[in-house]
Amino acid sequence: MKVETLSAVKGDYNLKNYEETYATFDWKDVEKEFSWYETGRVNIAYEAIDRHALGGKADKIALYYRDADRQETYTFRQMMEFTNKAGNVLRNAANVVKGDRVFVFMPRSPELYFVVLGALKLGAIVGPLFEAFMEGAVRDRLEDSGAKVIVTTPQLLERVPVKELPLLETVIVVGDNVKEEGQIIDFKKRMAEASSELDIEWVDREDGSLLHYTSGSTGKPKGVLHVHNAMIQQYQTAKWVLDLKDDDIYWCTADPGWVTGTSYGIFGPWLNGVTNVIVGGRFKPETWYQTIQDLKVTVWYSAPTAFRMLMGAGDEIIKKYDLSSLRHILSVGEPLNPEVIRWGHKVFGLRIHDNWWMTETGAQLISNYPCMDIRPGSMGKPIPGVKAAIVDDQGNELPPLRMGNLAIKKGWPSMMRQIWRNPEKYESYFIGDWYVSGDSAYMDEDGYFWFQGRVDDVIMTSGERVGPFEVESKLVEHPAVAEAGVIGKPDPVRGEIIKAFIALRAGYQPSEELKEEIRQFVKTGLAAHAAPREIEFRDKLPKTRSGKIMRRVLKAWELDLPTGDLSTMED
Ligand code: WT7
Repeated sequence: MKVETLSAVKGDYNLKNYEETYATFDWKDVEKEFSWYETGRVNIAYEAIDRHALGGKADKIALYYRDADRQETYTFRQMMEFTNKAGNVLRNAANVVKGDRVFVFMPRSPELYFVVLGALKLGAIVGPLFEAFMEGAVRDRLEDSGAKVIVTTPQLLERVPVKELPLLETVIVVGDNVKEEGQIIDFKKRMAEASSELDIEWVDREDGSLLHYTSGSTGKPKGVLHVHNAMIQQYQTAKWVLDLKDDDIYWCTADPGWVTGTSYGIFGPWLNGVTNVIVGGRFKPETWYQTIQDLKVTVWYSAPTAFRMLMGAGDEIIKKYDLSSLRHILSVGEPLNPEVIRWGHKVFGLRIHDNWWMTETGAQLISNYPCMDIRPGSMGKPIPGVKAAIVDDQGNELPPLRMGNLAIKKGWPSMMRQIWRNPEKYESYFIGDWYVSGDSAYMDEDGYFWFQGRVDDVIMTSGERVGPFEVESKLVEHPAVAEAGVIGKPDPVRGEIIKAFIALRAGYQPSEELKEEIRQFVKTGLAAHAAPREIEFRDKLPKTRSGKIMRRVLKAWELDLPTGDLSTMED
């Protein structure tokens, strides 16, 4: 088999020799990089901010924040002070103590980052919510986790069903002229009064830090719990994979509502004391290129959908900007098409480095490194300290070129520690010592891993993970919908789009208006990104005898594929 290769480019990278490091590396050695190694006092937010503010980087720029209305810059000292103030607000106005679940539900802004880090400084567990979530999605997550506090904006407040959440004590609103009454607290007013000194809560490395809700193929979204110990891997992968160095200007385009936006939008860069760029607002090619030019971004971490949209916007725009500061580009979230890598090479003169990981894994696990030849279409090789393999359904390792379950030997530092209060669900990820990802893949003879697809029905649309069950449940709440089955349909830009097959209740006639109404219903009830772009009405949907909708058959219909074994289908 002839494989396309893009050779490594010479440079002084943090990871110099992959094979050698892989053979000798031990996670224990990374522990020495943290202040707790000497002091015994652990807190991920302290390591990300205070340690630099107190250790010679006080005046270094920690954050460049940009959106349509705000252009702000914060040094590590200022970040320390503002995160301390936010911690004091949470402690004094909302009684937040170690282990409490504090949710943040707001668009990107400096305040969002102050709150996340301030809450972590109290030992609270932070649940970030994507701003597009509607009431139902917000309720599910706050209810499941028993949230005590939510921090939100006046615009999003109406989507927080405060009255239905008996455990929710305090609602902190980040806005202008917020009226404090009942459970409502005015964040800005309290920040202005708060001390910029804080008694940090020292935690155990195994104490909870982040609770990211994510979707599977069945059931409601599940709470993936990470712990402070994840910092070890987030720090080290930011060195090897992002290749971050002291003078880098780093930009991760992901929202902290998703794990990339926390692990690598907050912790990777700041644990390394690197200047971090955060851009709010909607995607627009001009704004993006402008950001790179103006802030002289050197390392850029984004996603295939974004690169495909930039590619679609044309190469002429690129010529209007000076993007020569860029030295390293990375991608995650979905398969990165070789064509996109070729395009990137042409327009930026750089390779785009694909890497693989998941919400559950907390940090990168498989990657293409700058010091390594890359094979477009492959996710790369496991990071040092991690063993990846392809296993069968019994957990037996398969030889190269055989397709199977992509699995990781459990025990890497940033691995999730719990599915929130659901031990069975947690256990279901493992076969013996293997964490089984739900992705199918194969490994080639040289140890590169190649993604093949999801084993389950999970949909990846524009890099966002959507569980078909959640969408189906919402669809059947609509009065016209009797049954619904939801699949991911391949799409050249978005990777997949959501397509719903719907059987209508008696008395309803199929029409374009009804499709639009149903689409809106999901949009407003769940989230815009979870609404089906395509709807097809059918008299009946394929079901098993036990009544389960057979998504595999729907997919086969859609793609004109053989439907496979139909023995369990009702007639
Ligand atoms: C799923 C995890 C943490 C990354 C953001 C998504 C898919 C992730 C790749 C890649 C092909 C990828 C997998 C995985 N995925 N990276 N490089 N190539 N597919 O995190 O929402 O937890 O989704 O994203 O299917 O299981 P997530």
